[in-house]
Amino acid sequence: MKDKHTAKVTRRTFLKLAGGGLLALVAGCGSAPKAAVEKARAAAEPLSRPIKKAVRSLTGDTSLDAEHIRQMITRDSKTSRTVMWHSDEAQEGAEVAWRVAGSDECETVPATSDYYDDDGQAIYLHSAHIEGLSAGQRYEYRLIAGEEGTEWMTMETDSGGDFTALIFPDTQCSDGYITWREVAEAAALSTPEANFFINMGDLVDNGEDHNQWNQWLDGAESMLTRIPLAPIMGNHETYTIDWQTRLPRAYLALFDVPGNGSGEFDRYYYSFDYGDVHFIALNTQENEIDEHKGGLIDEQLLWLRRDLAATKKKWKVVLMHRDVLQYRINGRPERREGISEDGAIFMPIFDEYDVDVVLTAHLHTYRDRGHLFDFKPSDGGRGPLYVLTGVAGNVRYPGLWIDHAFDRVTAPQPETDNYITMRATRDELNFKCFLPDGTVIDDVSVRK
Ligand SMILES: [Fe+2]
Ligand SMILES: [Fe+2]
Repeated sequence: MKDKHTAKVTRRTFLKLAGGGLLALVAGCGSAPKAAVEKARAAAEPLSRPIKKAVRSLTGDTSLDAEHIRQMITRDSKTSRTVMWHSDEAQEGAEVAWRVAGSDECETVPATSDYYDDDGQAIYLHSAHIEGLSAGQRYEYRLIAGEEGTEWMTMETDSGGDFTALIFPDTQCSDGYITWREVAEAAALSTPEANFFINMGDLVDNGEDHNQWNQWLDGAESMLTRIPLAPIMGNHETYTIDWQTRLPRAYLALFDVPGNGSGEFDRYYYSFDYGDVHFIALNTQENEIDEHKGGLIDEQLLWLRRDLAATKKKWKVVLMHRDVLQYRINGRPERREGISEDGAIFMPIFDEYDVDVVLTAHLHTYRDRGHLFDFKPSDGGRGPLYVLTGVAGNVRYPGLWIDHAFDRVTAPQPETDNYITMRATRDELNFKCFLPDGTVIDDVSVRK
């Protein structure tokens, strides 16, 4: 299904370029009226880069060439936010202007303009780190390079209190990411109050295929300019076009997540705070990464203990792609039920440091296993709540898994797609699992 020769500029991207995003702009805080370019709307796909450039020139388009504009999570969302985008050409002097919503005064912060060449594409990636924001404040931001710029978009900082997050399990697709778009749009529509969203890994099926990345980013556009993304790396982020493994070059380039201080594995794993919750995004791709660079688990375990010991937040939530349990598989009687390799590595540390919730993915099935402590179910609520988060793309494994003795809630079989809302209030973290039609298949909370 992969078509590596599809031109980068899709019809929808072109229409955006030719229509709503076509603003004549002045530098800095200002913005000028929209230009009408109805003729350009009639153009058919696909557009090559030279044609796209010619259209911009012919129509007098002075909007900034900026695709896949997105907010990324930072370590402290009360005071900072990262903004990224793509362009066909270098944008020297690129910057992001930001202001309190409705204010006439703005500040600017410089953005990078880095050449990026992968899977036959050559583009420029831009990233800007906004610091010095105030907690619980609505802001506006726009991208600027020279005399070109975008319209103002909205962003909101963490209040430090209650919040809502959207959580999406594996979004990899074989249908042009139509399923992912539908799940994302249903979630965004039903939960407009969401403050940020998490992807649990395997964002794409093939981590080198730039068409898939573009389709994934297109599919998430109902959220990406408005609220920040916290991505978790999955094994598919390490796959090459010919299904070997490599270091996750595209994932690392596309997602400027918080650093972890590592020389070898910076941004492979990270942590961030939102409200009174400390989130830890672990990396469970040790088998794939070890083929190219050793030491991921040893280094990560040292970091994890330091990170868990240092946080002052009331709640600790771990996000990891691979699951902690091993499930039996239909047709493979030799495979036993138990604890997975990653469960054996990480669960004792979660017990030791009083982690409240562990969210996992990778198996494309939704399972709520309740609280586990010392590798066993704990009816008293001791140990973390373990939720295997399901599937949010069209890659499904009907009838593959045999229920684990620890399963308390299993999604109706055969599974379709799902997403999860996380609502954090002072004394409770609540997780609801939704089918895209709004049906709730699980509703579970931890309280303290
Ligand atoms: Fe997956
Ligand atoms: Fe996976």
